Amino acid sequence: EMKQFFTNTLLEWNKHENTRSMPWKGEKDPYRIWLSEIILQQTRVEQGWAYYERFILNYPTVQELAAAPEEAVFRLWQGLGYYARCKNMLAAARQIVSGYHGHFPNTYESIQSLKGIGPYTAAAIASFAYNLPHAVLDGNVFRVLSRFFDIDTPIDSTAGKKQFSELAQELLPHGQSASYNQSIMDFGAVVCKPQQPACSSCPLTGKCKAFQLGLTGLLPVKTKK
Ligand code: ADE
Repeated sequence: EMKQFFTNTLLEWNKHENTRSMPWKGEKDPYRIWLSEIILQQTRVEQGWAYYERFILNYPTVQELAAAPEEAVFRLWQGLGYYARCKNMLAAARQIVSGYHGHFPNTYESIQSLKGIGPYTAAAIASFAYNLPHAVLDGNVFRVLSRFFDIDTPIDSTAGKKQFSELAQELLPHGQSASYNQSIMDFGAVVCKPQQPACSSCPLTGKCKAFQLGLTGLLPVKTKK
């Protein structure tokens, strides 16, 4: 079946062919995963890398971040922009210290209840840190799914978000959420790229609907709003 082929192929690609290296890959500390995801929401990997390393050196734990003065944290954030994200992180770190004795919450709902953490970031932390069965939905995932399954529902519509999140959730392999979520994000970044996707060397090409129909360049669809 298509869904099983898709998931298995991505897991195999990840195991044998994925050479993408980033400091937060394979990371199990929810605090570090959180930081990397917040940085990557607004910044390219190449630029975010140094900020991530510097931040971890200055604030190795959520307790140390929670205890920091806002000006000091803002100074480390300088150049990344979107200071609301940084401000929210500090507020959430303080929530974790005051409400969870400094232990990072370990359920999807409790993670999502933290300041500045939405469905995407909660799924990333829940799956990468705790291997909980929550599929991540980011730009990479929308692109890979829309092409392989030929879905032209706009990804920024209510119907699209529902359709893609249900499909993404069905594709999650039992007990392998962390590696699967990492696989699909890396696959979207290095193989199923927005421009010039590597279809000729892609392990999914043989069953890719968009490839068969010549629609790769037209997917995913966004409303122009
Ligand atoms: N973009 C955001 N988080 C990522 C991750 N963990 N791996 C690859 N790309 C990402």
